[in-house]
Amino acid sequence: MATRVLRVNPRRPEPWVIREAARVIREGGTVAFPTETVYGLGADALNPEAVGKIFWAKRRPADNPLIVHVDDVAWLGRLAERVPGEALRLAERFWPGPLTLVLRKSGEVPDITTAGLETVAVRMPRHPVALALIRESGRPIAAPSANLAGRPSPTTAQHVAEDLMGRIDLILDGGPTEIGVESTVIDLTSHPPQILRPGGVSLEELREVLGEVELHPAALGKAEERRPKSPGMKYRHYAPRAELIVVEGDPERVPVKIEEIARGYRALGRRVGILATDENLGRYRSGKAVSMGSRRDPETIARNIFGVLRELDREGVDIIIAEGIPEEGIGLAVMNRLRKASGFNIIRA
Ligand code: TXA
Ligand code: MG
Repeated sequence: MATRVLRVNPRRPEPWVIREAARVIREGGTVAFPTETVYGLGADALNPEAVGKIFWAKRRPADNPLIVHVDDVAWLGRLAERVPGEALRLAERFWPGPLTLVLRKSGEVPDITTAGLETVAVRMPRHPVALALIRESGRPIAAPSANLAGRPSPTTAQHVAEDLMGRIDLILDGGPTEIGVESTVIDLTSHPPQILRPGGVSLEELREVLGEVELHPAALGKAEERRPKSPGMKYRHYAPRAELIVVEGDPERVPVKIEEIARGYRALGRRVGILATDENLGRYRSGKAVSMGSRRDPETIARNIFGVLRELDREGVDIIIAEGIPEEGIGLAVMNRLRKASGFNIIRA
C-alpha cells in the first residue's frame, strides 16, 4: 500500500490539503495528522471497518480502546449516554486542548472503537490542522498516537513515517508538535474522578476545577498494574529498542550513580546512551549523553522526550540510562512515560 505525504501549514492549514485528507477519512481510510500533543492516526470513529484499519496499521491489541476526537462540545451529547456537569466544566476550561474525558458511551459508538468497553474517551484537540480535519470530515475521528504499538509516540511526521510508511493512506506533515506527551486521560465515571494517564493538563490544574481528583496507581507508572482500568496500562509502552534504566532520587547523587552504571556497562563492551538534563550533561564521560532540556523547564523535556528516545535508538546504543526529573506539573507525565518505557527498570540513587 502506498502512503502519501502532504505538507501542511500548522497555523493556517491549506484548505485543499484539508479537503483531500477529509475525503480519505470519509471514504474510510487512515490519515496521520499533527495534534498539539503527538501525531495521531485517524479514521472515522463511527465506521467500524475504518477503525479496524487503525488497529491493523499499528499492530495494536484489539482490547486497547481509542480516543474519539471532536471539534465541538455538542458531540459529547451524541457519543456519551449522559454528560455529567464535571465534563462540561472541564470542557469549558480545557477544550480545545490536551484533556481526554472518559464517559459512559452511547449506542452510536461502535464497539471496536472502545474495544468493547461501556465507556468512551473523548477529546477536542486545539491544533489547527486537527480541528480543520475533523470539521471538514463532518465526523468524529478515532485517533491513537501514530506509532507502532509499543514504540515511543511520534512528535514529527518523520517518526510517523519510520513506523507506518506503507501501512496507512496519508500523512499530513505539520512539523514538530508543541507539547510532546499525550493528553491527560480522566475517568469521570468514578467518584472522585480518576486520572488514568497524566499528560498535557496537570493534576494541579484539574484540582482547581474539580476539587478532589485521584491518581490511578498505574498513572504514576511506579509499578506494574495488576488489574488495569485502562486496558492500555498493561502493555509495555513508549519503548526504545535499547534496554532502558531510569535513575531517580537525590538530584546530586543521580548523575554519580548514572556514571557508575554507565562505566560498568562500558567495561562489558556495551554501547551506552545517557538521557541527561542540561545541568548535568557535562558530567558524563562513559556514554553518549544527549540532553532532554533543563531541569527548570519540564515543558521542554516533555517536548523532547519521545524524540530523544528514538534518536538514541538510531545511534545504535545497547542501553539507555535516563535521569529522573521532579514530578511537578508536566513532569508527572514525563516520569510516567519514562518508567513505562523502561518496563519499570528503576534504580534509586
Ligand atoms: O494526546 C493524545 O491523547 C493522543 C493524540 C493523538 O490525541 N492520542 C493518544 O491515543 O495518546 P492512544 O490511543 O495512544 O492512548 C489512548 C489512551 C490509552 O491508554 C487507552 O487505553 C486509553 O487512552 N483509553 C481510551 N479509551 C478509554 C476508555 N474508554 N476507558 C479507559 N481508557 C481509555
Ligand atoms: Mg499511544
